[in-house]
Amino acid sequence: MTHLSPGTDLLLGQVLHFTADPFTAGLGAARLDEALVIENGHIVAVGSAEALRRQHPRARVTDYGSALISAGFVDAHVHYPQTAIIASWGKRLIDWLNSYTFPEEMRFSNLSYAQDVANRYFDLTVSNGTTSVCSYCTIHPESVDAFFTAAATRNQRVWAGKTCMDRNAPEGLRDTAQSAYDDSARLLAKWHAQGRASYVITPRFSPTSSEEQLAAMGALWAEHPDCLMQTHLSEQTDEIAWVKTLFPTARDYLDTYERHGLLGKGALLGHAIWLEERERSRILETDAGLIHCPTSNTFIGSGLFDMGGLKAAGHRIGLATDTGGGSSFSMLRTMAAAYEVAQLKGRALHPSELWWLATAGSARALHADHQIGNIAAGMEADLVVVDLASTPAIAQATRRAEDIWQALFPTIMMGDDRAIRATYVAGALVHGG
Ligand code: GUN
Ligand code: ZN
Repeated sequence: MTHLSPGTDLLLGQVLHFTADPFTAGLGAARLDEALVIENGHIVAVGSAEALRRQHPRARVTDYGSALISAGFVDAHVHYPQTAIIASWGKRLIDWLNSYTFPEEMRFSNLSYAQDVANRYFDLTVSNGTTSVCSYCTIHPESVDAFFTAAATRNQRVWAGKTCMDRNAPEGLRDTAQSAYDDSARLLAKWHAQGRASYVITPRFSPTSSEEQLAAMGALWAEHPDCLMQTHLSEQTDEIAWVKTLFPTARDYLDTYERHGLLGKGALLGHAIWLEERERSRILETDAGLIHCPTSNTFIGSGLFDMGGLKAAGHRIGLATDTGGGSSFSMLRTMAAAYEVAQLKGRALHPSELWWLATAGSARALHADHQIGNIAAGMEADLVVVDLASTPAIAQATRRAEDIWQALFPTIMMGDDRAIRATYVAGALVHGG
């Protein structure tokens, strides 16, 4: 289905982009234009249809009418190996890991199984308008090779790393401090900064890593400070109580990472729901990223992330599905869940804030907001075209819309892959038409 596009493409539609973070700059941060121009996989111009047609008379024109054209969605925390166990019933975090996750992750020692799931995962996410993801793999190097190979074939900008675990996981799903270091270092050398790939140093979470392993990951990160480091933090209260027994001398959950050099600007801390005051202030001081995974937090029963309070304090925050703890591959559904969770915390997130989180915000959390997550000259042409009347229920709800936000919000709340009219990766149409 992919068509490579030598030459110039001119796309017409309602082009939504941001000049700043709407949480701090307000509605003025969002702009609507009529057209954009793509050359060599990059956006070269955004503006009025008339001016861009005049300036690019030989461009191939695709007119999306009243559909929205946005940067593709950026999913900042996923587990692609959990694709097949999404929507598994009835467990909370630790039981869910033991009952569903670990048995499935065991299968990724088999390269061809890993390749099959990686390709299925990219098919599903692209059909949901997601163009970039930051994924955990499994402990198996094969799972990392399968992921990066599939992404490279599709030319997608991605982040991922080998998940490291040397305790509290079943036989066959444990490495050691040394082998985790060696395998991670080798995979990093193989994949980091190759094309659009970035390697992420990935200790799963403190309960499944010994002090020695966390120290080894800290050492590896110190040797490769341009890499990101991802892990989980304070997702459920039972998990936090367990961490306290496993690390009796740590000041708090964050300290189990911090004292091994695993806290800093390139850290991506998934969930971060039950933060103590010291943790909030250290995370802010270090400018580490927090990744909000709202469908996961409600599905596994974890708790309510404090988006309003943490954004107001100035935290760097991205949005993510956390598949398969999360219950959807769709960033539209994820925005809806973020809205609902924030409502329960007393803050109604504006559609511009939700959209920014799913695009530019996640890109900023991944330190890639100069490349992806927005529409501007010079950015990579990863785009999603969204039909704002994709179902009868949504179409009738938008009939009286008086501005773009009223027109967009029903799609945020009720939209799914039927709303995704087209997805472009590096200027090439990879889904829809
Ligand atoms: N904490 C440690 N591992 C996982 C995981 O795979 N999913 C979620 N939601 N939380 C975790
Ligand atoms: Zn996760």
